[in-house]
Amino acid sequence: MGDTFIIHDDDSNELAEKLSKEAGFKKANYNRTIYPDGETKVRLSEDITESDVILIKRMYPEINRNIVELMMLVENLDSKHNAIHLVLPYLPYARQDKEFLHGEIISIKSLLNVLSHFNVKSVITFDMHSIAIKSMSKINITNVSAIKPLAKYIKEAFKLANPMVISPDKGAEERAKSFASILGCSYVVLEKNRNRETGEVVTKRKDIGAINFEAIIVDDMVSTGGSMANAAAIAKQNGASKVFAVFTHALLINDAAKKLYSAGVDYIISSNTIINDYQKVDIAEEIADAIGLESSTHIKNVILQ
Ligand code: R5P
Repeated sequence: MGDTFIIHDDDSNELAEKLSKEAGFKKANYNRTIYPDGETKVRLSEDITESDVILIKRMYPEINRNIVELMMLVENLDSKHNAIHLVLPYLPYARQDKEFLHGEIISIKSLLNVLSHFNVKSVITFDMHSIAIKSMSKINITNVSAIKPLAKYIKEAFKLANPMVISPDKGAEERAKSFASILGCSYVVLEKNRNRETGEVVTKRKDIGAINFEAIIVDDMVSTGGSMANAAAIAKQNGASKVFAVFTHALLINDAAKKLYSAGVDYIISSNTIINDYQKVDIAEEIADAIGLESSTHIKNVILQ
């Protein structure tokens, strides 16, 4: 094998710069042209052969276009005998990790299976929707979490007197638990049900059993904002003095942020797995750790302004 390259587009320039500077990796980039009919053309800046390649690909927004680009890049790099390591900070299609209704295709399994036909050695991603996805993948997945840096950020930036962590549903319980342990406080889990036909979410009212508390609602992602808004409304009904919406992946579709504020959220805080207006935590150090860079401690966890 030859050199190690980090391949990225403009959206990941800063991240690629931090990683390559610490580890001495070479940098290459790719750019795209999108044609009027929606087709996309990808152009690599270097002809890379027989090397280790770390491909950083942000998959949101425009998930489907990004998947086509990912396939083109992976196929091309594979044909030139490179060993490919993918860094996909947000792994799309991960919520369809089961056949919820008869006949539904398990989207994440299909996506990972297609990738496994190429020389993809590993995938690094963040707060994957469900850990069960690992067992359906032929490719080794490293699931990094942004929960720890998010909790540290809240702890340092807000000196909260009586925090209470809230999980908006059963699926987010482990995240809420580790978040609460960093803050040294309790957590509660709400019961949420989603209508599998319409997508509508209903969250059961709950007596949180605390007074004069700051509610910190922790989830892997906010998409339409329905789950987080329901949890915020329940926190307010329970008398929360402040409500924090904290999550890793800020999909924030349409007026999702407005929906959260209307439901009583005071602060929206996320990581930069997806570039967004509410990012307070940088994921570079976690990626460096996952890649196994010895010098990763030098990549400081930047608190973004
Ligand atoms: C679902 O189980 C996830 O963990 C999130 O709670 C959900 O995807 C958020 O979606 P939305 O913002 O549309 O409610």
